[in-house]
Amino acid sequence: MHPMLNIAVRAARSAGDQISRAVDQVGNLHVDEKGRNDFASEVDTMAEQAIIEVIRKAFPAHTILAEESGLHAGDDYVWIIDPLDGTTNFLHGFPQFAVSIALAHQGRLEQAVVYDPSRQELYTATRGGGAMLNNRRLRVTRQSSLRGALLGTGFPFKAHQHLDAYLDMFRSLFKDAAGIRRAGAAALDLAYVAAGRLDGFWEIGLREWDMAAGVLLIQEAGGLVTDFENGDRYMSSGNLITGNPKIHQQMLDAIQPHVTEALRRSD
Ligand code: IPD
Ligand code: CA
Ligand code: CA
Repeated sequence: MHPMLNIAVRAARSAGDQISRAVDQVGNLHVDEKGRNDFASEVDTMAEQAIIEVIRKAFPAHTILAEESGLHAGDDYVWIIDPLDGTTNFLHGFPQFAVSIALAHQGRLEQAVVYDPSRQELYTATRGGGAMLNNRRLRVTRQSSLRGALLGTGFPFKAHQHLDAYLDMFRSLFKDAAGIRRAGAAALDLAYVAAGRLDGFWEIGLREWDMAAGVLLIQEAGGLVTDFENGDRYMSSGNLITGNPKIHQQMLDAIQPHVTEALRRSD
């Protein structure tokens, strides 16, 4: 395992331990509403501290971009951290949440870890080295048509201005797909595309820490990731479509007619 990935795994497991220990006490946690429908608990903060501690010890000069504490400036290695993706699920005892850690170097994703502590599933990827779930090599599905496909999505619950556009996209995909799931943790949704559990996924308004690790997992498992214009600005716009190459194209065709001027501006 690449030494930098090794550190990422150690950090993710440490955060996962904190999260698992807190699972039975969700009713007693202090929770902040950072914005409408945007929650953070003391577990998010503790898990993030645990991750930063492991990374800082190994790589004190690196930059860190973490959801709860923001940017810690350093050199051109950037760790992109979501200490607890799926906080709303976690706070309700709904076991679909994960730790997400990626490392980018000069703007290129190099290492990725998504860790699901409830199932002890560890997803890892190194650029050029493939993607793994525990000890198994990952590959996106070979599903060639939307008919029969299982898709994932996230609702724009913080960006209500895009709700109509989103529902039009949903309607258009819903007609053909075998099913659409909204599981509530984007990092895991992306890991599931890499693992062939979902044929495709789309969401409006993601943040870098929701996506970074999952994007590299998918690319290393043979999938495509783009924004709604079929470009590569998903990290800045937060608008993302992914799937195996055939499903990705069909999702793009279904979604593009519903891309509004406001969404296009963010792409
Ligand atoms: C959220 C989850 C959710 C997605 C949101 C994210 P958080 O992350 O990934 O599935 O729909 O866009 O903000 O706040 O639980 O870390
Ligand atoms: Ca998140
Ligand atoms: Ca989070």
